[in-house]
Amino acid sequence: MTYDDIRKVFLNYFESHGHKIMPSASLIPNDPSLLFTVAGMVPWKNIFLGKENAPAPRIADVQKCIRAGGKHNDLEDVGFDGRHHTFFEMLGNWSFGDYFKSGAIEMSWDLLTNVIGIDPARLVVTAHISDDESAEIWKKVAGKEAIRLDKDNWWSAGDTGPCGPCSEIFYDFGEDVPGGLPGTPEEDGGRFVEIWNDVFMQYDRDANGNLTPLPNKNVDTGAGLERWAAMLQGKIDNYDTDLFVKLKRAVSDVTGVSETNENKTSFKVITDHLRSVGFAIADGVIPSNTDRGYVIRRILRRAMRHGQMLGHNGALLSKLYPALVEQMGNAYPELGKNASHVIEIITNEENAFADMLNNGMKLLDSELPNLHGNVLPGAVAFKLFDTYGFPLDLTQMILRDKNIDVDVAGFESEMAAQKERSRANTRGTKIFWESRNDLPSTDDTAKYAPDKNMESRVLAILRGGEFVDSVDTGDEVEIALDKTNFYGTQGGQVGDMGELKIGDITVLDVSEAARADGVVLHRGIVRNKISVGDTVRPVVNSQNRAATARAHTATHLLQAALRRVLNTDVEQRGSKVSPDSVRFDFSFGRAMTDAEKIAVENLVNEWINSDMNVAHEEMKIADAKKRGAMALFGEKYGDIVRVITAGDVSCELCGGTHVNHTGEIIRAKINKEKSISSGIRRITMSVGALA
Ligand code: ALA
Repeated sequence: MTYDDIRKVFLNYFESHGHKIMPSASLIPNDPSLLFTVAGMVPWKNIFLGKENAPAPRIADVQKCIRAGGKHNDLEDVGFDGRHHTFFEMLGNWSFGDYFKSGAIEMSWDLLTNVIGIDPARLVVTAHISDDESAEIWKKVAGKEAIRLDKDNWWSAGDTGPCGPCSEIFYDFGEDVPGGLPGTPEEDGGRFVEIWNDVFMQYDRDANGNLTPLPNKNVDTGAGLERWAAMLQGKIDNYDTDLFVKLKRAVSDVTGVSETNENKTSFKVITDHLRSVGFAIADGVIPSNTDRGYVIRRILRRAMRHGQMLGHNGALLSKLYPALVEQMGNAYPELGKNASHVIEIITNEENAFADMLNNGMKLLDSELPNLHGNVLPGAVAFKLFDTYGFPLDLTQMILRDKNIDVDVAGFESEMAAQKERSRANTRGTKIFWESRNDLPSTDDTAKYAPDKNMESRVLAILRGGEFVDSVDTGDEVEIALDKTNFYGTQGGQVGDMGELKIGDITVLDVSEAARADGVVLHRGIVRNKISVGDTVRPVVNSQNRAATARAHTATHLLQAALRRVLNTDVEQRGSKVSPDSVRFDFSFGRAMTDAEKIAVENLVNEWINSDMNVAHEEMKIADAKKRGAMALFGEKYGDIVRVITAGDVSCELCGGTHVNHTGEIIRAKINKEKSISSGIRRITMSVGALA
C-alpha cells in the first residue's frame, strides 16, 4: 500500500465507524506552549479541556506534525536510523467523551489485523503499570498479554495540559533486525517499532504536576504514517518507502550524486528536512532568529550542510520543493498553492547562507589541527555562529562524525559577553553621530522607490564608539552613505533590512537601518572589508520591506476599524510596525469585548479582501487637512506632507512605506488586546503569512 492508499484505508475505516473526517490543521498551533503541532491531538486540546465544543463526538484525520524543538524533538536522531523524522504525518482517531478504552483498543486491533491483514503474531502491546483495565481488554480482544510500563505508557503534549495513560502497539520487523522488546535495554534497536498509540486522555496536569480529572474521558490515538508504510511495504527503513524513494531520486537529480551506503544519512536528512522546511513555510513560518523561525532556519542550514557533503553547493531545498509538491501536493494542496512564495523564501535563505557555509567550513577546518583534546573551544563555535551564521547545533552536527565536542559553556559565555557589548554599543550611538555635522541628510524620498542600480559612497563608519577608516569581517558597525534606498527606523516603523554590496559581494549585512536625525545609519555585521570612500550598492531586502508595508497599511485599517466599531474618539497613541506584525496603542477607556475584537478584525479583513487601492501622495498640509487626513496627536509636520489613502476608509498623514492594494496584506489577525496605562489600550496584530 502506498501513502495515498494508507491514508484512504485509515480514514474510510473510521468514517464507517461513525467518525467525522477532518482536514489536517496548520503546523503553527494556536497554543503558546508549543512551537509546532507535535501530534494529532494538538488542534483538539481545548476540546479535551472542555473550553471548546467538539465538531463531533468521534473524529479522525491525518495531521501533519513537526517534532524539532521543545519537549518532542527528534532533530538529532534524523538520518541515523530508519524511523525518525522532524516532519511526519500522524493518523489519528478521537473520542470526546464517547467510546473509551475498549472501543479504542477493539478498533485498533480490528483495523490492523482484519482490515489491513497484519499477522497478529507480529504485534506486541503495552499498557501503563496502573492500567489493569486496558491489560484485561487486550487479553479479551486479542489474547495478548500487555507489557506494563510506566513513563513510556503516559502521554502529554507539553509539560502541562491534557494527559493520560496510554497503550502502544508495536510491530515486530523480524529477528534479522537487532533490538529487543519494549521496556528492555535493547528496545531502541529497531526490531520492535511503535506503530500506534492509544492515549486515554483523562487528566489535566498543572505546572506543579497535579492531575485534575478532565470533564470527559477521551481517546487520542496516533499512528505514524511513515512507519505504517514501512510495515506494509516490507521495508525496515521508512526512508525506503515509496514517497521517500521518489524524494531521494529528486535529491540525486539535483545533486548529481547517487545514494550509497556511505552517503545515505545525507539523503535521509535532506529528504526529511525538505518536508519540514517546505511544509512549515507553506503554513506561514518565516525563517528568522527567534522561536519557530529559528528552528526552520537551523533545519534548512543543516540540510545545506548535507548537500555540501554530497558535493553540492548553494541552493538545494528550493530546487527540491517542486518534487515535494509533486509527491504530497494532492494530499496537502497548500504546498502547491503557496509554491512560488515558498520557493522564493527558501531561495533567499539559501543564497544568504551559501557563502557563509563555505567560509565557515574553511575556518573550522583551519582550527581543527589546533585542538587540545577532542573539544572545540567555545570562542571558535561562537565565531562560527556570529560571523558565519552556524547555529550551535550545526557545528555540533558537523563535528559529531569526527568525535569532537563543542565547549558549550564557553560558547554561552561568549554569547553573553557579545550581548553586553552590543547593548553598550547600540545604547546612545546617536551621541557619536551628532558630532558628524559634515554628513548630508540621506533620509529622503529615494526610500519610497528603491533604485536597484544606486551606487553610494561610504562616508563614515562607526565601530565600538569610534569612527574608523576601515572594518573587517565580523565587526559590528554603523555606516553612513552619501545616499541610500534604506528606510531608517522612524514613526513607529522598524527600519529596512538588507545588504551593502560591492559588485556581487555582500560587504555588510544590514540588520536594521536606524537614523540619527536625517542621517540613515546602516547597522549590521561586516561580511567583507569596507573602507571609507568605497562605492557600495545599498540593496534593501524587498521581502522584509513588503512584510513591513503590509503591517503598516494594516495599522491604518485597524485604526479606521476601531473608530467605526468603538467610537470616533479612538486615537492612535503609539505604534510599532514590524514585518507582518503590528503593535497599536490607542485611547479607549475600557477593555474591548470579544464581540468588538471580532468585529474589528472582520472589518479589517473585509477591507483587505475588497483589495482597495492605496494612494501615496505628497501635498501641502492645508490640502491634506481639507481632505480630512488624520494626523498624529502631538506630532509636528512640515509644509509638504505625505498622505496615505486606502479606498474610502482611511486617510492619514504618514511617512511610512505601504502596499499599493489592500489585498497584498492577505489577512489580519488580532492576537491580544490589553491595557498599558489608564485610558490606553494596546492591540497586537499579525498580518500576511504570519496571520
Ligand atoms: N498523542 C499521542 C501521540 O502523539 C497519540 O503519540
